[in-house]
Amino acid sequence: MQITLNSPLDMHLHLRDKEMLKTVAPLSAHTFAAAIIMPNLVPPVTTLHEVLAYKKRILEAVGDEVFEPLMTLFFKDSYDYAFLEEAKPYISGIKLYPAGITTNSEGGVSAIESAALSMTLTAMSDLEIPLLIHGESDGFVMDREKEFIPVYEELARQFPNLKIIMEHITTKESVAALERHENLYATITLHHLLITLDEVAGGMLQPHLFCKPIAKRPEDREALLSVALSAHPKVMFGSDSAPHPQHAKESCGCAAGVFTAPVALPLLAQLFDAHGKLDNLQTFVSDNAQIIYGYTPPVKEVTLEKKPFTVPEKYGEVVPMYAGEEIKWSIRSVK
Ligand code: DOR
Ligand code: ZN
Repeated sequence: MQITLNSPLDMHLHLRDKEMLKTVAPLSAHTFAAAIIMPNLVPPVTTLHEVLAYKKRILEAVGDEVFEPLMTLFFKDSYDYAFLEEAKPYISGIKLYPAGITTNSEGGVSAIESAALSMTLTAMSDLEIPLLIHGESDGFVMDREKEFIPVYEELARQFPNLKIIMEHITTKESVAALERHENLYATITLHHLLITLDEVAGGMLQPHLFCKPIAKRPEDREALLSVALSAHPKVMFGSDSAPHPQHAKESCGCAAGVFTAPVALPLLAQLFDAHGKLDNLQTFVSDNAQIIYGYTPPVKEVTLEKKPFTVPEKYGEVVPMYAGEEIKWSIRSVK
């Protein structure tokens, strides 16, 4: 059995910088036609110069692969209309992190409800620049996403023309919120479709499955599966593939992030196939994102086949999801 995907898109990707960038960028670029690149470098990407310089470093790391990095800025409430108007041709969105909520988000926003954000959000709305949000409160870890939903809803109401992407949703409450506001959309990761908290911490602790937001309950995973497998028009694939070196994961104080880029498409095919929904994979992994972002990707044809593949133990210093395990689908060809 085979499936050919046209221009798969990863709408939430961490590529890092320097040696890590050189290791991971070619892996995403091999099978994805484009990806939304997260700006949480150290320091974060906050100027047009940094956007352009980072894009250049990504393209250098990617080499000959056909791949478009879709750049983002790290949200600052000091961005004004003039700056955003100048930046708009070079960015696909702006990523807002609550301060300190996840890896390298210390320079994020401390009070999202604050009126201080309205200048920037109004300008983004007028200029039609999507707002991408890491939606977690600073509450109890299992409740953080649920507690953030009123913030999403208030933003959606206050800025009805602003496209708001709820990044890497993990709960049934977020799935339900999508239906209540026309301008709310969501990305869903591979790992949140595959695992619950049980796989992370139910037995021996699995550092390579630890991420933010943390994987939730079976009923949450079911809600995510129902919209992903049916390719609901408001959801799109965003891997949130977030590489950390092995020593930062297998240590006291494990870094958050699951590295899925090299196995994302075979595992998505395996998942959709297992549910008899392969016909919806193209829509979930490319078409919905093209419509939501108004984006036409470069042409790339990725053929996947139902043929076992043993996931490598490591890519450089990074341990991928399901390292050393056999998965049921593999990449046959890329054109
Ligand atoms: O698990 C995560 N890792 N969640 C995030 O939001 C950030 C990411 C990272 O950059 O490592
Ligand atoms: Zn992320």
